[in-house]
Amino acid sequence: MGYEIREMQIDDYDASLALWKRCEGIGLSSADDREPIRSFLAHNPGLSYIALGADGIIGTVLCGFDGRRGYLYHLAVDPALRHQGIGNALVTRCLNELHRVGGQKCHLLVFHQNVDAQAFYAQTGWTLRGDIVIMSKNLTCQADSSSC
Ligand SMILES: CC(C)(COP(=O)(O)OP(=O)(O)OC[C@H]1O[C@@H](n2cnc3c(N)ncnc32)[C@H](O)[C@@H]1OP(=O)(O)O)[C@@H](O)C(=O)NCCC(=O)NCCS
Repeated sequence: MGYEIREMQIDDYDASLALWKRCEGIGLSSADDREPIRSFLAHNPGLSYIALGADGIIGTVLCGFDGRRGYLYHLAVDPALRHQGIGNALVTRCLNELHRVGGQKCHLLVFHQNVDAQAFYAQTGWTLRGDIVIMSKNLTCQADSSSC
C-alpha cells in the first residue's frame, strides 16, 4: 500500500475527524472540535502527522510537547489498512520530531478496554506504567478565585 506521511494541517480536520469516528478506541470530546484542534496544531508545529493514501487520509496522530514531556493522541489507522506498519510509521515520525525539539520522554493515554492498542504499543517499545494513575479536572473559573 503506497502512502506518504506529512504534517497535519487544519485543512485535514474533516477527514481526520471522520477517521476518528470510525475507529474504536478513539475518545472524542469538545477538545476535538475544529477550533481546539486548530489551536493544538498551532501550539505544536511540526509534531502531528497524517498518512495519506491514494484516496485520502488513512492515518493520523496528534502530538504535543509541553517543553518537558511529549504526549500522543488520536493515533488511528483506517481499519481496512492495519497491520501494514502505518501506525508504527506515524508514531516513529512523531518521536523523532519530539526528540529533535528536546523531548526526552513521551506519554500517552489508552482506555483500559483497548487491548489492541495496548498490544501495539507494547510491541513497539512502550512501557506500561504501574506506578502512575491519571487524575483529571474540568477547567472552569474556580469559585473562590478573584483571578477570572
Ligand atoms: C493501534 C493502531 C493505530 C495500530 O495501527 P497499525 O497500522 O495496525 O499498526 P502497525 O501495523 O504499525 O503495527 C506495528 C506492530 O504492532 C503490533 N500490533 C499492531 N496491532 C496489533 C494488535 N491489534 N494486536 C497485537 N499486536 C498488534 C504488531 O506487532 C505490529 O507489527 P507486525 O504487524 O509486524 O507484527 C490501530 O490498530 C488503530 O487505529 N486502532 C484504533 C484506534 C486506537 O485504538 N488508537 C490508539 C488510541 S490510544
